[in-house]
Amino acid sequence: MTQDIASRTSDTFRAQRADLYLADETALAEKLISAARLSPEERAQTDALARRLTDAIRSGRTKEGGIDAFLQEYSLSSEEGVVLMCLAEALLRIPDGATADNLIRDKIGSADWDAHVGKSDSLFVNASTWGLMLTGRVVNLHEKTFESVTGFLKKMVNKSGEPIIRSSMLQAMRIMGKQFVLGRTMKEALKEGKSEEARGVRFSFDMLGEGAHTQRDADRYFEAYRKAVAELGEVRPHNGSDDIFARPSISVKLSAIHPRYEDAKRERVLEELVPRLAQLAVESRALSLGLTVDAEETERLEISLEVFAAVLADERLAGWNGLGLAVQAYQKRATAVIDGLAELARKHGRRLPVRLVKGAYWDTEVKHAQVEGHEGYPVFTRKVMTDVSYIACARKLLDDPASFYPQFATHNAHTVGAIRAIASPNTKYEMQRLHGMGEALYEEMLTNGFDADNPEGGDHVPLRIYAPVGSHEDLLAYLVRRLLENGANTSFVNRLADDDAPIEEIIGDPMEKAASLKSKPHPRIPTPHNLYLPRKNSKGVLLTDATAREPFMAGALKSVAEPITESAIIGGENDTSGAEHTITNPADRRELVGHITEASVEALERAISLSD
Ligand code: FAD
Ligand code: 2OP
Repeated sequence: MTQDIASRTSDTFRAQRADLYLADETALAEKLISAARLSPEERAQTDALARRLTDAIRSGRTKEGGIDAFLQEYSLSSEEGVVLMCLAEALLRIPDGATADNLIRDKIGSADWDAHVGKSDSLFVNASTWGLMLTGRVVNLHEKTFESVTGFLKKMVNKSGEPIIRSSMLQAMRIMGKQFVLGRTMKEALKEGKSEEARGVRFSFDMLGEGAHTQRDADRYFEAYRKAVAELGEVRPHNGSDDIFARPSISVKLSAIHPRYEDAKRERVLEELVPRLAQLAVESRALSLGLTVDAEETERLEISLEVFAAVLADERLAGWNGLGLAVQAYQKRATAVIDGLAELARKHGRRLPVRLVKGAYWDTEVKHAQVEGHEGYPVFTRKVMTDVSYIACARKLLDDPASFYPQFATHNAHTVGAIRAIASPNTKYEMQRLHGMGEALYEEMLTNGFDADNPEGGDHVPLRIYAPVGSHEDLLAYLVRRLLENGANTSFVNRLADDDAPIEEIIGDPMEKAASLKSKPHPRIPTPHNLYLPRKNSKGVLLTDATAREPFMAGALKSVAEPITESAIIGGENDTSGAEHTITNPADRRELVGHITEASVEALERAISLSD
């Protein structure tokens, strides 16, 4: 069965993706800029709509107080905000009140805490580590921040006691959760979404939960998805229209429904995860609901495409256009992914709903590539390059309506304007936003239409809201991504929330900006190899890319086929003066790895004298 599945994926596009995986950003930038570039008319149209939308957001913000107002008020991107979030995050992980109180007492209430500033590795002192854990990026917090924040918290603890602090922190997390989660249950979410639905807004429901570590967790999430499909189908019965794209849908994270959704477990994933996703798709089809596979970490891209291709080929789904997936524009492979999907769509005679996103895991991706010591990054290092890539991908999707139903997910007014400008009037597509974000922008479009120069009578492009459903236990990862996105000073929503930031710059043309950059890669983000210059970082093998993995594994297997004989090298020569040892495979002691001869004490002394 596995072989059969493998043969369904195209080698050509796999090879293209392999070439682009960690591609040189400079060469790739040139290609993408020229593919994405807007004509003068498109630029003018984009600019006009982007301006109208940003005006609406800025005035909507003061009226309604969305997440951007919240950010301004509480400044989550400030140092204090990071420290407070760290504590809130830690508290959320602690199941019982007594331990949570101990943590508060220990970390905030300790009388001699100030003495440790900058010296100890206690939670607050070393908040850069916490910043790292929370955000994936190193935050250099000033000592003063700790002093004022902890001083303030200590006073609070002394006055009110730990349980009060704990419940306020948890309450704060719940409030933030409420901002981004539509309901704790499907029933609640459907009720909450009713008024939007009544005016034609579509929904895609996502069951919170991801990265299942155990089979039990994966089973629980899988059943939650099945239940959600059944409930949604019952409450929103098919209305007779055969437009599957207009129907509600479910968004599925594959990492939630399988505990080893990773390339290294490919066989198992194809045998166990494919039937699971197929079952969800078959059940969705029966109820005329769409199903979209979310995009997760870049390491999972190849395996996700294999799973998707296998499910697409399932006979029970023949002729159905409801199965779609998300593509991340921040990945260097994005355009090749779309080319591969177009081929799949043609092969199966299907039109694929493709949700184009920029990507929600940027910080983690950058850190991960550095830990792995890869020669480059799988994602762009400049925000503007992600914007360029997004428009290049959008053009590909819009240019092939037979293969794709494009779904553009963004809260960026320039990106929205550009989509509107490049889409020809008759092309069908939809826009998407996350629940709790982009309200004012899409409100303007829903009320006044999508045409920049004709706000009163412009046509309407359908909108879909991605709506997470679940309880606060499963919220953390999703919430952290939303806080990062809203808190990052590169992000559109964050910049627009800053009234001092000039609009011209916020909605400036990314292709022009990118073209004018002297260095296309970010000059302050060295490649993982060059992270510790002048010392080279240790080199990792890109095990999730078959073209790198296969020769590496063949070499590794060859090297163990013949026992290895090694000894110390001193002064450029092998030294066999010490004791000899036999090395066996620690996982199976019957397997001989080889023999080593250690250096003797005299040989070591000689080595030290040589290094003088
Ligand atoms: P912008 O502010 O224009 O862009 C922010 C984005 O730019 C960041 O998220 C990041 O992708 C990128 N970026 C930031 N800094 C840099 C840098 N230095 N170098 C390169 N790139 C950078 N995300 C997923 O990963 N998978 C999904 O399945 C998914 N589904 C979504 C569904 C919907 C309906 C929506 C609206 C979003 C979804 N997202 C998903 C999240 C999405 O990736 C982010 O919301 C999106 O990136 C924000 O883009 P923007 O255009 O709104 O904002
Ligand atoms: C995320 O979970 C929305 O899929 C996106 O961050």
